[in-house]
Amino acid sequence: MCKLLFTFTVVTWFALSASMMSIVSVQAGEPEFKLMNGKVDTGTFNGWRRFHSTCHVCHGPDALGSSFGPNLIDSLKTMDYQTFIETVANGRQTTRVSGEVSVMPAFGKDPNVAKHLDDIYRFLTARAKGGLAPGRPKK
Ligand code: HEC
Repeated sequence: MCKLLFTFTVVTWFALSASMMSIVSVQAGEPEFKLMNGKVDTGTFNGWRRFHSTCHVCHGPDALGSSFGPNLIDSLKTMDYQTFIETVANGRQTTRVSGEVSVMPAFGKDPNVAKHLDDIYRFLTARAKGGLAPGRPKK
């Protein structure tokens, strides 16, 4: 009897914790960065690398912006994860009052970017919200 009760408790506990875990991951939804004593997790580090192989040509080193693209540290202070993913995957185009067209290319089909969007997001939010310093981060 006692053993049965124990088994029942353990099984319930596993079921409960499994369901709680899935709820937590659904609610969190967004990829998170870790920053401790100036050191970042592997994902955030990978994001830094990927950003500086593709995005920096327009958004500037450290994402501070250039004459080709906006400062993404400012953008990521308020832009949510979903909007970020959609903008980078589908691209965007804005015609300025001057008639000049500002184009963000679509990267949804670029394997060097698409697979790493979460990590790029980690890196940019670490810079925008976590106080990660400019330059190559420490792992
Ligand atoms: C060829 C230049 C170019 C490249 C390369 C580029 N971008 Fe952009 N990006 C732009 C321009 C220009 C805009 C502004 C578009 C507009 O005015 O609608 C922009 C806008 C954005 C925005 C929206 C910013 C906001 O405040 O709304 C995000 C996010 C973004 N880019 C992320 C990226 C990421 C991540 C990469 C690398 C995978 C990247 N971009 C590569 C030119 C570029």
